[in-house]
Amino acid sequence: MIGSGAREHALLLALRRDPDVDALAIAPGNAGTAAIADQYDVDITDGDAVAGLARRIGADLVVIGPEVPLVLGVADAVRAAGIACFGPTKQAARIEGSKSFAKDVMAAAGVRTATSEVIDNPAHLDAALDRFGPPRQRAWVVKDDGLAAGKGVVVTTDRDAARAHAAGLLDAGHPVLLESFLDGPEVSLFSVVDGETVVPLLPAQDFKRVGDGDTGPNTGGMGAYAPLPWLPERIVDQIVDEIVKPVAAELVRRGCPFSGLLYAGLAITSDGPAVVEFNCRFGDPETQSVLALLDTPLGGLLYAAATGRLAEHPPLRWRDGAAVTVVLAAENYPGKPRVGDVITGAEGEGILHAGTKRRDDGAIVSSGGRVLSVVGTGPDLAAARDAAYRRISAIRLPGSHFRRDIALAAAEGRISV
Ligand code: GLY
Repeated sequence: MIGSGAREHALLLALRRDPDVDALAIAPGNAGTAAIADQYDVDITDGDAVAGLARRIGADLVVIGPEVPLVLGVADAVRAAGIACFGPTKQAARIEGSKSFAKDVMAAAGVRTATSEVIDNPAHLDAALDRFGPPRQRAWVVKDDGLAAGKGVVVTTDRDAARAHAAGLLDAGHPVLLESFLDGPEVSLFSVVDGETVVPLLPAQDFKRVGDGDTGPNTGGMGAYAPLPWLPERIVDQIVDEIVKPVAAELVRRGCPFSGLLYAGLAITSDGPAVVEFNCRFGDPETQSVLALLDTPLGGLLYAAATGRLAEHPPLRWRDGAAVTVVLAAENYPGKPRVGDVITGAEGEGILHAGTKRRDDGAIVSSGGRVLSVVGTGPDLAAARDAAYRRISAIRLPGSHFRRDIALAAAEGRISV
């Protein structure tokens, strides 16, 4: 396993439940993953280093969690070393790494998405801001064209804020993507993809803003839940048939077939589902909720995709009920987080580590913005929320914060399409 977040902790726990998995290793990992996998320190953006480690420890399968190594071609290096790898090639990872490539693929595949424009010249910015945003649309959507860990996006009704974000990106030499605003509840649908074979997982929803009621700046994700009781099954089928399969086929047609996890971030608009973005890997924190409900052994599923045999894999089985994940974040996150604080009560079922490390004296301390993901399960969303919030209330981390409204609107039946 490559990565160090709660997503990777969740993947390891699901792999550990697979009777065909007999050993787990992770690089670089965190204080929580150290308890269930051998931990190695390599530069995960260096394909030769990752492939060398995999060869040295005799790995049968390498699973790459984060987008940065994928976009840099680490999966290509692992495959070139003759080792099965779950994660797309550098060429296919452009579906996340370049928003303009993704738009091009979607246009060719006939997939509904926001209209957009890439700006790379500050002199064109004001005219472009006039073409997007209010009064024509509810808000401006300003994105970094490249990777930005979820924090490159500003959605705002304040033109000055939209302009300041765009100008800052352009000053830093990053092209800016202006998009039309997509109205409607958001859905994250993950699919295991191997060429044109698409196996969807349970739909989930994440919470990107830092504050309750979707207030404050964007983050990497403050919580998630699955499944979505308000989303009709036919819409999941529609997303697969009208969006995921055509995009997978288009990537095959372009000579860069996708193998790995294709994450469709969608808005369910009044015209139907529309793509907000694609990611080339499991989402964080949705994975923590989705995998808590997966009954099918995960190792066999990922290995089938990595070896071109996904079409032969039996249908997935899911546990009944719901799962809710609440992220515990460090003081000041999503700004520069305070780190080095001692965390207590962070052991036990449903507590997944992200920005944690073990100090020489044995204490677990915070080392990043998103520190823990706390997962609760139950027969329905209300019960899963109770379980997650009960667990998180027993954890102590000075200055930390979390959202209190994860899955609340859905549990109260306040979301509809
Ligand atoms: N849940 C947002 C992301 O993984 O990018």
